[in-house]
Amino acid sequence: MQIKPDEITNILKSRIEGLDEDGAGDLSEVGTVLSVADGIARVHGLENCMSLELLEFPHDVTGLALNLESDNVGAVLFGDWDSVDEGDTVKRSGRLLEVPVGEELLGRIIDPLGNPLDGKGELGTTQTRPAEGPAPGVVQRQPVEEPMLTGLKAIDSMVPIGRGQRELIIGDRQTGKSAIAVDAIINNRDKDLRCVYVAIGLRMATVASVAKTLEEHGALENTIIVAAPANEAAPIKYMAPYAGCAMGEFFRDRGEHALCIYDDLTKHAYAYRQMSLLLRRPPGREAFPGDVFYLHSRLLERASKLNDELGGGSLTALPIIETQAGDLAAYIPTNVISITDGQIFLDQDLFLGGTRPAIDVGMSVSRVGGSAQSTPMKKTAGTLRLDLSQYRELQAFAQFGSDLDADTQATLNRGERLVEVLKQGEQKTLTTRDQVAIIYAGTSGWLDRISTDRIHEFQDFLIDRLNSGQSGLMDRIGDSEWDDSIESELGEAVGEAIDDFGPDYDAEGNPLEEGESERAHGGGDDDEDDDSSKSGSRDEDDEDDSDEEDSKSAKSKKEDDEDDSDDEDSAKDGKSKNKNKNKKNKKDKEEAGASA
Ligand SMILES: Nc1ncnc2c1ncn2[C@@H]1O[C@H](COP(=O)(O)OP(=O)(O)O)[C@@H](O)[C@H]1O
Ligand SMILES: [Mg+2]
Repeated sequence: MQIKPDEITNILKSRIEGLDEDGAGDLSEVGTVLSVADGIARVHGLENCMSLELLEFPHDVTGLALNLESDNVGAVLFGDWDSVDEGDTVKRSGRLLEVPVGEELLGRIIDPLGNPLDGKGELGTTQTRPAEGPAPGVVQRQPVEEPMLTGLKAIDSMVPIGRGQRELIIGDRQTGKSAIAVDAIINNRDKDLRCVYVAIGLRMATVASVAKTLEEHGALENTIIVAAPANEAAPIKYMAPYAGCAMGEFFRDRGEHALCIYDDLTKHAYAYRQMSLLLRRPPGREAFPGDVFYLHSRLLERASKLNDELGGGSLTALPIIETQAGDLAAYIPTNVISITDGQIFLDQDLFLGGTRPAIDVGMSVSRVGGSAQSTPMKKTAGTLRLDLSQYRELQAFAQFGSDLDADTQATLNRGERLVEVLKQGEQKTLTTRDQVAIIYAGTSGWLDRISTDRIHEFQDFLIDRLNSGQSGLMDRIGDSEWDDSIESELGEAVGEAIDDFGPDYDAEGNPLEEGESERAHGGGDDDEDDDSSKSGSRDEDDEDDSDEEDSKSAKSKKEDDEDDSDDEDSAKDGKSKNKNKNKKNKKDKEEAGASA
């Protein structure tokens, strides 16, 4: 004869009916282990158990109730679950899963349950917080408005991230995803932003090297590292991002700012799948993707910018997803793309081709960060996306070389330089003002006079020079000031820097011979000053007779905008034209404009 536990309970229940209420209450607080395997226990008799409640098993094993079924509770076990046996008693704790939080955690490496992993002794925290909790509602939030700067030119200029935003970093393995996250932490080392780096399913050696990098840059003391390495049990990996998020929320709710990086959620989803199968949840396609959506949406919804009554704190989330061969259409990527406020897509071909960070501009977007971008950056980087997409369109024609018309050639030249400008090494973050200076040099056309392979050298030269010689100007840009006079002053300074650095091309775009750049320097300098003082506009031509022509050509270019779609520069503001490029080019356009 088979004995069914629920039948026995029913019999027992009817027997003890009539016991006083306290006694009956107590009975439902204690249960018995029905079965235990693979770190999962089925417990009978915990009638009032809550979802995600902590359960106390013998031998200091803790369980987390995940499956509430009609006659038993499925729980995942943390700790030495081998020692738990069938028939052991299990007690409800009445508490949801909680993790330690507090400033004491900064600078530490801990596991998701709050045990130190770095051998630096006790954490010394006094507070805890439920690992999972409801996300703030609409009324409790306000729009994102402060920037969360990564220090990376390509991101801060084109996919700006705001505090409180959720921005996905997505790409194949080894495309520099983690590097971006680490750079973001390093760039904020001396700012009022606390960072939580959650490592899920990485090798412990990788975690240690991240910690070392952060320490070398003085960023570790501002960072909590939550590690659930690859060798950990699935439940620990499952818990990790929620625990990290709770640690970030602690700062958010104090009116401070926090950044949570989840590296990476693909492995989190795999851990969850493993757990679900062990819990005997339906494995089919109909159940699992939906589950994973809920898994990640309830995590990422907790990123927020709170309203002023609640202190105005923020929690920014940078989830990372690893794709297989760039496949964005798999269900984990599509889920997280739909949950976040934008994505930074890293392309393996770009990465291998040396464009690093390997950001695919066309596929990357930030839907809310624009309002958090500083004015100088917004103004200088405004045309960047367009320039780059035009460049990409024409790139295939580059092989035709000199057969190309001047316009196409100009677009290609510009694009090549902008791509070069946006390249940036690891752990070489730049302040916004430095970024503005070099991006301005690129988008306004000054860099067209420098050959591509010298652009990085020039960048360092320019930044050094501006910060020492023009610190007043740079301070104003750093303070987010921007107007015509700042723009022309910056243009002038960049022009002088180019002349001193020694341009490779003259103002018409013709290559200069060795030694000729000295001459270009002398001539260019004087005219530069004359022109700028006359008109206050930054990129006046080096030629004296150019003023009139420029304004005319700007106008005619604007006309072109309407009907001439193959004018590469067309969608740009006529003012930000590269006057240095070539006169021939402009005249062509003028004629086109006149005849139109
Ligand atoms: N901007 C960069 N410049 C040069 N090397 C980089 C850059 N970003 C990443 N790398 C290198 O590329 C490799 C992969 O980067 P990583 O961030 O670990 O990729 P992922 O997290 O996508 O697997 C690492 O060796 C890293 O040092
Ligand atoms: Mg990585």
